[in-house]
This record gives sequence, structure tokens and C-alpha cells, in this order.
Amino acid sequence: MNNKSTPKDKTLHILILHGPNLNLLGSREPQHYGKTSLESINAMLEEEASKHNAELRILQSNHEGSLIDALHQAIGWADGALINAGAYTHTSIALHDALRAVGFPAVEVHLSNIYAREPFRHHSYIAAACIGQVSGFGARSYLLGLHGLIAHLRET
Ligand code: DQA
Repeated sequence: MNNKSTPKDKTLHILILHGPNLNLLGSREPQHYGKTSLESINAMLEEEASKHNAELRILQSNHEGSLIDALHQAIGWADGALINAGAYTHTSIALHDALRAVGFPAVEVHLSNIYAREPFRHHSYIAAACIGQVSGFGARSYLLGLHGLIAHLRET
């Protein structure tokens, strides 16, 4: 551990962002995204966060600008962010720039394995602005991403 580490007794503040169409999880293309609703994923994340002394701020939006606004509004509050940018992953230089601008680390997550799908999903504009990526484990991707982020925040 170096002197940048966050002691376990400090509550971590983590922003969770869900991008476009993820409000339909549960019924949306279950062959790709599974049958777990967004509400259940959020409940899983809240439960896990409470075990690790972390507090979550959760937003789902179908609008690119609202996701960027949420990142800006988290400056000064968030220690880190977990983001599934949905299709904006593959299109948004603005989200890349926002992730770089806010100054707190982010982890990119995807339910599906974006590299095993159509070629247009193989490139992520936000990956280079994130500390890491979890892709392909269904709803569990979020938990793995949360663990990775918390470990990063507590240990690095
Ligand atoms: C997704 C993958 C994206 O390609 C897609 O546009 C989504 C969901 C995923 O979680 O697997 O909306 O981010």
C-alpha cells in the first residue's frame, strides 16, 4: 500500500451509470443481455456496496448529455464510477472526454461480450479513458466491475 490508498473505514462514493436501452433489461434481447432487470442489478450492486462500505449514486439515461452531466455533477463527490454506456460505448468521444475530464477512475462494464458480437461493437471509445473493462459475464459483469473498482480505490 502506498499513501494514496483509501482506508477501509472511509466510505467510498461510487457513481453507477447505465446508458441507453438498459432500462429495458429483463425483456430486451435476453439472448444477449439475460433476464435480470435493471432494478435487480441495482439491488445487487447496493447489497454488495453496503458490504464494502461504499455508497452508490445510480442513474440510467437514454441521453448522452445526461450521462455526461451526471459525471460532471459527481466531481467532488465520487471516488470512482462504474459505467455501462450501452451503444454510446461505440460512438461517444464526448463520453470519453468526460471520463478523462472528471479526474476520478472509472470501470467500463458490458453484460455481453462485445468482442464476440458484430464488428461495430468491437471498438470502445471509452475504454482508453477507463482503468479497466469487464465484458461478457451478464449481470455479474457489474459485480466484477464493482469489485475491481473498489479494490483499485482501496489498494492503489
Ligand atoms: C452493452 C453492449 C453494447 O454494444 C450495446 O449497445 C448495449 C449493451 C452490454 O452491456 O452488453 O446497449 O453495453
